Amino acid sequence: MTEKFKVAALASGRGTNLQALLDEAGRPGSPFSVVLVISDNPQAHALERANREGVATAVVLRKDHPSRASFDEALADTAKRYGVELVCLAGFMRVLTSAFLSRFRGRVINIHPSLLPSFPGLDAPRQALEKGVKVTGCTVHFVDEGVDTGPIITQIPVDVEPDDTVETLSARILVREHVAYVRSVRQIAEGKIPFPHPALALAIPPMETP
Ligand code: GRF
Repeated sequence: MTEKFKVAALASGRGTNLQALLDEAGRPGSPFSVVLVISDNPQAHALERANREGVATAVVLRKDHPSRASFDEALADTAKRYGVELVCLAGFMRVLTSAFLSRFRGRVINIHPSLLPSFPGLDAPRQALEKGVKVTGCTVHFVDEGVDTGPIITQIPVDVEPDDTVETLSARILVREHVAYVRSVRQIAEGKIPFPHPALALAIPPMETP
């Protein structure tokens, strides 16, 4: 049997995108396997989801590290120990620095609840409602040193309804996030997307700021 493509997820919270990946990895013939879930939050429901599926977990606490760089190095060391090929951010509430990204250049992806480059950062569905856009959606993208700025892999649009609240809109986007994330990870694992991302794999990391 050929070895499956090894995926790790970094998650801080409820982990529904992680669950979508775990479900897909469990299907017969899946080209990838989730080998590790790392969290910065010991209470994250994502960790329970991983435990339930028998997937290894690790908790790396920011407070145990004197700097962002040393926290990021600990995350990268952990993922390297498991031979991880692709890192999926799945509701990970910290911005990774080059201390992590330089170890997984072009191998980190994220799911974001808007059609980037519109509405990066926190509360994207709220930003979309406040702006009054009629269509929003979700984006899967490679991660670079910016916030939600890396090369886009796929997007799915979602109509904004006149009576939408942040909750109803977020819920409809979330359903599409699961589809987009699973599809992207499958395509990467099957070699259908250039991987590691060529431009990011070559990038020279910027100088660390203290
Ligand atoms: C999702 O909306 C994702 O787009 C954003 O964080 C949220 C995580 O949700 N990056 P979950 O933990 O996967 O349910």
